[in-house]
Amino acid sequence: MGSKQENKPHVLCVPTPGQGHINPMLKLAKILHSKGFDITFVNTEFNHQRLLRSQGPEALKGLPSFRFVTLPDGLPPPKNKDATQDVPSLLRSLDENCFGPFKTLVAKVSASYSPVTCIVADVLMGFTLAVAKELDIPEFLLWTSGASLFLFFDQYPNLVEKGLMPLKDSSSSMKVYLDKIVDGIPTMSGLRLKDMPPWVRYIFPTDEYMVQYFCLQIERAKTASAIFFNTFDELDSDVLETLSKTFPPCYGIGPLHLLESEIVDEPLESIKSNLWKEDLECLKWLDSKAPSSVIYVNFGSITVMSSQQLVEFGWGLAKSNYSFLWIIRPDLVIGEFAILPPELLAQTRDKGLLASWCPQEQVLSHPSIGGFLTHSGWNSTIESISSGVPMICWPFFGDQQLNCWACCTKWGVAMEIDNDVKSDEVKKLVIELMNRDNGNETRNNIGYLKNKAEEACTSPSGSSIATLDKLFHLLQASAS
Ligand code: UDX
Repeated sequence: MGSKQENKPHVLCVPTPGQGHINPMLKLAKILHSKGFDITFVNTEFNHQRLLRSQGPEALKGLPSFRFVTLPDGLPPPKNKDATQDVPSLLRSLDENCFGPFKTLVAKVSASYSPVTCIVADVLMGFTLAVAKELDIPEFLLWTSGASLFLFFDQYPNLVEKGLMPLKDSSSSMKVYLDKIVDGIPTMSGLRLKDMPPWVRYIFPTDEYMVQYFCLQIERAKTASAIFFNTFDELDSDVLETLSKTFPPCYGIGPLHLLESEIVDEPLESIKSNLWKEDLECLKWLDSKAPSSVIYVNFGSITVMSSQQLVEFGWGLAKSNYSFLWIIRPDLVIGEFAILPPELLAQTRDKGLLASWCPQEQVLSHPSIGGFLTHSGWNSTIESISSGVPMICWPFFGDQQLNCWACCTKWGVAMEIDNDVKSDEVKKLVIELMNRDNGNETRNNIGYLKNKAEEACTSPSGSSIATLDKLFHLLQASAS
């Protein structure tokens, strides 16, 4: 295999195998490589094959001191090899099947290159902690979702113990039920049931597994040496300080894409992690539009919706009369191809551009983008904040409801759209978001946070720069 490099500390990076988790882990891996670490990056075999198709073999060739290796995810081959895997099945399979293969992988990588001196894994890959313990290798964790979700599941057992959750009263109307407030989580007062991960609203068997899974992984995180979050102090210092009381030290090290562009140079720039092929034409289309005139619509890599919801979004965008760039993933609509009515396509021909995947960071930082209709995935949220683009949130699952809550109520950078989406509401919110004439407070708030994100990652006294320094020293120390 590769040449032996005895002296460099060797970091094994293990992301959760989903788009929204691979991206930030790869950024951290590249940053660490630029700081002089030897890196081995672990993808599942399934994702490795997808990356080969979407990015081409060159993008995964790596460097002598930055290489990709693969781990089987334990699932049978899927019918559609380019669709997002079912999240509960994937997480269950990884947790149940990967301890042994991962242990073998660490030994093989150590023997082939240089001894692994440290593991940096996603918190959700808790099985890596058990391997690290057995092999006596220090492990640091990266949390790649919204920080609030971590705190929420840390606190959830307390809510259950106090009888506050799960809410049993579903006699009232759905709206009244979802609007009920459950206080008791520090830093999150006024949280409604609808702001919580959907898994805790009604406990079905698969939901119950997800609740237990998150609680377990977060409990396991207590044995790590430190936990790093893809956020920055101005956004989440209250959450991180609360967590640091009962967990290993918790630090904000984000937004990682800003740190990446500050630190990482060629040749690592060409290593990409998009599981779908990006349509670069949309950047040229955006070049032809006036500043802040386009609403960008993207629901990330996992969200699915009904064809009716797709059509409501479509007519809402059409009726708003703003130009839009709408990314419609091939597997966005549940069980069928995403098809928009011909009359809608005809009406929006001059206003809208549809594509199936795009280079999102570049899109969000393009001057023509004036707003983002998003599913509130954490990466989309932090990328939008760093670009100063206000949002309309339509959260789907996981951390997204909490991210939406934080954006709308804590940071004042977004507006929420009802889950039962109707075109008139889409139209109304898009017009409100895009209108720049009414002394828009949302826009002021996000402008402020954009500056703070930049400061955290570029100023010599920036909080995320300081965290990176801490991680650097911890990794160095773990190698000596
Ligand atoms: C998942 C969860 O859904 C999310 O809630 C969690 O916080 C992270 O993992 P996902 O749904 O894919 O992620 O959303 P998001 O977190 O926004 O991550 C998507 C990533 O893919 C972003 O980094 C985004 O820039 C990138 N992307 C998305 C593209 O590059 N192009 C696209 O067209 C869409």
